Amino acid sequence: MKECRHVAIIMDGNGRWAKAQGKPRTAGHLVGSDNVRTIAIAADEMGIEYLTLYAFSTENWKRSNDEVNYIMNLPAVFFRKYMKEFLDRGFRMNILGELDALPSSTRKVLEDAMEESRNNTGLNLNICMNYGSQREILLAAKKYAKDVLEGKADLNLDEEGFEQYLMTDGFPPVDLLIRTSGEQRISNYLLWQIAYAELEFVQESWPEFTPDVLKRCLDEFTHRDRRFGGVKNV
Ligand code: FPP
Repeated sequence: MKECRHVAIIMDGNGRWAKAQGKPRTAGHLVGSDNVRTIAIAADEMGIEYLTLYAFSTENWKRSNDEVNYIMNLPAVFFRKYMKEFLDRGFRMNILGELDALPSSTRKVLEDAMEESRNNTGLNLNICMNYGSQREILLAAKKYAKDVLEGKADLNLDEEGFEQYLMTDGFPPVDLLIRTSGEQRISNYLLWQIAYAELEFVQESWPEFTPDVLKRCLDEFTHRDRRFGGVKNV
């Protein structure tokens, strides 16, 4: 099998899924958060090392207060239910995004999850909260500029060097990016990290995204011809 170390997912369609069931949008987010556990376990069992999930973007603050508050409370519910199991499985939790802007209780839950799992060497379960890729790159550029001004870095920075300023420092590049629910957009997600990723857009909404659908995506990935800008080996 072609190596697929890092899978990123834009978990779309919770709201539409809930509406189709005659339920409030928030019911979709709750089922969606439970599905994070299901898919993380499946990904680990399928040999994926890094799973990076888009839970809340810098643009998602535009939603109703009720919906934003509901999503902000989900990490507490989620980690209360599943943290022990994640630790038993050796998962390492990483949270990407600007955590300063989150409610302090949410931030604490996320920081505790990172701290408790920091010595684990199993699946890296990366959850993006208040994340936006353009902002991530801008913040990285500012950090680099500051290092230059302070004499800690020079101008001979290459791509690999720049990656150390990103929130994904130390992660391999994304091999496969999946978006659920039929939309075909990147939505400001991991723009640097997906430079050579394979893209898959599936019809299933996030609550309907089962381990079988993940397996189907990985099977499709193995049939893609990845050349990284080179020529085909014949
Ligand atoms: C997109 O569906 C989903 C979100 C913006 C929120 C995703 C959040 C989760 C799946 C839960 C996160 C889990 C943890 C542990 C924090 P949408 O609401 O845009 O759906 P729609 O396009 O049908 O409206």
